[in-house]
Amino acid sequence: MTRILGIETSCDETSAAVLSGSDDNVQQDSLVILSQDVHRVFGGVVPEIASRAHLTSIVPVVERAVEEAKTSLDDIDAIAVTHTPGLVGALLVGVSYGKALAFSRDIPLLGIHHMEGHLFAAALEHKDAVPPFTALLISGGHTLLLDVEAWGRYRLLGATRDDAAGEAFDKVAKLLGLPYPGGRYVEQLAREGDSHRFHFGRPMLRKNAVPGDKDYYDFSFSGLKTAVLNAVRASRDLESDKADIARGFQDSLIETLVEKTHRAANAFSRERVVLGGGVACNRTLADAMRARLAPDGITVFTPTPRLATDNAAMIARAGFFRFERGERAGLDLNAYASCPIPGLVAA
Ligand code: KG4
Ligand code: ZN
Repeated sequence: MTRILGIETSCDETSAAVLSGSDDNVQQDSLVILSQDVHRVFGGVVPEIASRAHLTSIVPVVERAVEEAKTSLDDIDAIAVTHTPGLVGALLVGVSYGKALAFSRDIPLLGIHHMEGHLFAAALEHKDAVPPFTALLISGGHTLLLDVEAWGRYRLLGATRDDAAGEAFDKVAKLLGLPYPGGRYVEQLAREGDSHRFHFGRPMLRKNAVPGDKDYYDFSFSGLKTAVLNAVRASRDLESDKADIARGFQDSLIETLVEKTHRAANAFSRERVVLGGGVACNRTLADAMRARLAPDGITVFTPTPRLATDNAAMIARAGFFRFERGERAGLDLNAYASCPIPGLVAA
């Protein structure tokens, strides 16, 4: 049995987790997530404040994760730490701390790609959320549509050309006067909205598109955001229109995500679809995805909110895969703002 400590500090969550097991049989012994609420007053993450907050909390967060797993640092076999993509100053805290710990304990270190972590999150709770599957990763910074033939073999089918799905939710939330991060408030508000009042276009969703077209799998949400801005400006009574605007926005975004995922799952004859990233918390999206894919016999797996948003359990889980493949990072491991997901195969 292997026991891995995962560390995640790529954005505004300081998180540590302990997982134990082997192969796809891995159990989560602990997960501690400390969310930096301080950014709320700024309406977005302030990088330098995030780095400093990680520095203050990394030691107690790791200690707590080890304690909750009822183990000790002496019994940890390897350390998996997010080293890309994210805010470099924030990543450096986790990377430096992970390195120091690995060096002092003389145990292996693994540098994990944050988006590969999101890919593994559903597998922590659903034993069938394993390849082959179609993956839709939707977070605050990324929107990726992948075909996952096997762990470590990823075909990138589509990505956003401008704003990420979560970013679009957050920007629309701001326009509607909702708190940051706004995804869940937009979803809540949209529930009360009328779907017939505001019809926004479906970005990159041409009905006559065929596989091979450049926009067949790609996404674009900045035009949708501008359409919402125009609707907000044109509104004479925003207070009474805002639920309908939220509904119109969310309907458009969801239909695009669902249709592109449907295209990908069918093109590769996949029977499973795995969602990951903070926007995967959106129940309306998960329901729409299931309704669209069930007739084709496709099962949709979504992580619970705690595992869909940033957390170290998913990093430790991806670490397990890389550890068992014999991969090791050197003490020269660095942090990068962006980097392609490892294991990409040609599209
Ligand atoms: O994966 P994540 O925790 O952080 C990044 O790696 O970016 O994703 C955060 C994003 C935010 O944009 C947030 O608004 C969005 O996930 N989000 C949601 C919901 N819950 C969180 N978006 C839509 N509906 C939700 N229920
Ligand atoms: Zn994330």
